[in-house]
Amino acid sequence: MQSTMDLGTVSPTIEPMSPETNAPILRIIGKAPLSGHVPISGAKNSILALMAGTLLSSEGCRIRNVPNLADVKRMSDILETLGVKISRSGETLDLDTSNLTTNSAPYELVSKMRASFFALGSLLARLGSAKMPLPGGCAIGARPVELHVRGLQALGAFVQIEHGIVHAHAMSSNGRLQGARIYMDYPSVGATETLMMAATLAEGETIIENAALEPEVVDLADLCRAMGAKISGAGTNTIAIQGVDRLHFADFTAIPDRIEAATFMIAAAITRSTLSMSPVIPAHLTAAISKLQDIGVTVRIDSEDMITVIGGDRYRAVDIETLPYPGFPTDMQAQFMALLSICEGNGVVTETVFENRLQHVAELNRMGANIRLKNNVAVVTGVPQLSGAPVMATDLRASAALVIAGLAADGETTITGLHHLDRGYDRIEEKLRNVGANLYRTTANTAV
Ligand code: UD1
Repeated sequence: MQSTMDLGTVSPTIEPMSPETNAPILRIIGKAPLSGHVPISGAKNSILALMAGTLLSSEGCRIRNVPNLADVKRMSDILETLGVKISRSGETLDLDTSNLTTNSAPYELVSKMRASFFALGSLLARLGSAKMPLPGGCAIGARPVELHVRGLQALGAFVQIEHGIVHAHAMSSNGRLQGARIYMDYPSVGATETLMMAATLAEGETIIENAALEPEVVDLADLCRAMGAKISGAGTNTIAIQGVDRLHFADFTAIPDRIEAATFMIAAAITRSTLSMSPVIPAHLTAAISKLQDIGVTVRIDSEDMITVIGGDRYRAVDIETLPYPGFPTDMQAQFMALLSICEGNGVVTETVFENRLQHVAELNRMGANIRLKNNVAVVTGVPQLSGAPVMATDLRASAALVIAGLAADGETTITGLHHLDRGYDRIEEKLRNVGANLYRTTANTAV
């Protein structure tokens, strides 16, 4: 649970500018006006699930619109240890899944990326047994997996957790899972994906109730359907899956990344600039568009895959509460908090999805923001101007929030902890530089 310590004060333990290390840092000279067009990459969270989904068939898959991200590389490494052969050409991944050599994923890799745990569902469905290390602790909260485990048990798997490894096998004599009715206590994205994949090859019908509605769940269902799965209701809270005997090859293009798009939308807003972006699916951005409009930003939907954000002169604070889709996404909370920090008035940000996802508060305060934190609630009192400072990225979306804040701040901001940023943003410096931002990556040694 979130500590009751007031993180609104500057932490004395953070020393992001250590001159001894060669860790990369991002230097941003703030207040450069932005203008132009930003290309949006494929959705990280979709692609990680799609890659897990390819394990369901022995005929392989082609996935298009795959950005160069550390998380994609890590997922590729995990699939390769299972025997998958992967080749990349530009933004296209070809996955040869014909010969899985083991049912056991390596601890060192799975512990670093929670999404890889979701492959438990596809591996178990394909092979009848799977061993998956529990995902490691994560900076944004405990992130348990009991919804995945209980769902797989309902599908007829025997699941045992021993020494940090989840051992699962189908209990039926033919090694197949059995269709079942599953009610999830919470609409977990990952558990919905794990169970949907597992059910595609089960005998009979599975109904997942209180399923997650996120677009990435729908994208995974679309891939499974392209592979021959019978799935209906993805994108609603009841998903029905009629199990089939086998799945086949598919050539599939991932949806654009709504979180990356929202990050650039906020970058435009906070610098009071005009930026267009495509491809996007505007319907996936409803919560972000609505909050931006409430703040006083103009958002224009130019076409079915392009939007333009036009910054304004005066912004008023709004309240934000993170919720499962179509509520306000937790993955956009940190970036919006950076924008709220320069809005007039008080905005209350309530994080309900992950208990410890407000570590960027202390860093934004280093940049002159006025944010008070109590448990999972942050009260952001707008200030006229942020000021550049050395700060440290604490997780993926926090790192994006610091970049956004740095773009608007007076003077220079230096950000360390860039491995977080590289997990989910492909060429972010290049994309921002192309629209006028003044930022570059260097090392701590050269910066001091
Ligand atoms: C996914 C996204 C992540 C996003 C999150 C919520 C990927 C790779 N990651 O993460 O970027 O922030 O959705 O939109 O797609 N929970 C349990 N028990 C479980 C599973 C989850 O208690 O078995 C809890 C979690 O601790 C958390 C909440 O449910 O508090 C939401 O988690 P979940 O929707 O599962 O998120 P992820 O799939 O891990």
